Amino acid sequence: MGIYVEDVHLSFGTKVVLDGVTVVANNRETLAVIGPSGAGKSVLLKSVVGLLHPSRGVIRVGDQVVGGLTKDGLVRMRQDVGYVFQFAALFDSMTIADNVAMGLRRLEGITQAGIDERVRECLELVELDGLDARYPSELSGGQRKRAGLARAIATKPTYLLYDEPTSGLDPVTGTVIDRLIVRMRDELAVTGIMVTHDLHSAYRSADRIAMLYGGRIRFVGTSDEFRSATDPVVRSFVEGRPELLEGVT
Ligand SMILES: Nc1ncnc2c1ncn2[C@@H]1O[C@H](COP(=O)(O)OP(=O)(O)O)[C@@H](O)[C@H]1O
Ligand SMILES: [Mg+2]
Repeated sequence: MGIYVEDVHLSFGTKVVLDGVTVVANNRETLAVIGPSGAGKSVLLKSVVGLLHPSRGVIRVGDQVVGGLTKDGLVRMRQDVGYVFQFAALFDSMTIADNVAMGLRRLEGITQAGIDERVRECLELVELDGLDARYPSELSGGQRKRAGLARAIATKPTYLLYDEPTSGLDPVTGTVIDRLIVRMRDELAVTGIMVTHDLHSAYRSADRIAMLYGGRIRFVGTSDEFRSATDPVVRSFVEGRPELLEGVT
């Protein structure tokens, strides 16, 4: 069950952000979408969960066409898609356990004991066991990101979307998050899309990398293919050399 994005166009007023994006995250792989700030990475993720509406093109999550879902259908679809927000987006007035439990409380037929058990499992998976009674302000940046991840996996989604999971973290903490993304794929068998401007994070956590540039996917490949690509736009990003973009169309 993959995520399929086909010829997606999306503009804000006259500003074209997505200009025919086609990309696939295959069943049980993690696809990284990289690109400079403002490239449209977050817009792409929001389109996948139906928070933004492309003017053209089709997005499918498994066999569901996102643009064709009713309001209820969209709610059901989102229960199967965990979303790890860029800034963790935890509720400051709630404990970590209550933050993680949020999605679970909406499930029918789940008991309080069932919720407690699942919260414990999820916190253990992201290595935050024992911190359930803390408040977000009492956690470090990396711990908050992990709590956001625990919340995203609580309802056992088939799909996981990560928006800049390592941004704002020091390199060591970022590496911990990258390893967790790999674990989520391997242990929970999720299909994932992670968007990032951090190429090294993409190398560590993803099976394939797609580069979003100028509103389209400029290149898709494995880390090795990325490193050896000859396209000047890819090279400029890989080598951190903006001058390589001069004269590129
Ligand atoms: N709700 C919105 N209204 C108007 N412009 C937006 C909105 N959301 C994003 N944009 C614009 O779309 C472009 C891509 O944004 P975004 O997807 O957030 O970039 P990034 O790749 O850094 O995640 C930016 O120029 C941004 O200003
Ligand atoms: Mg963004």
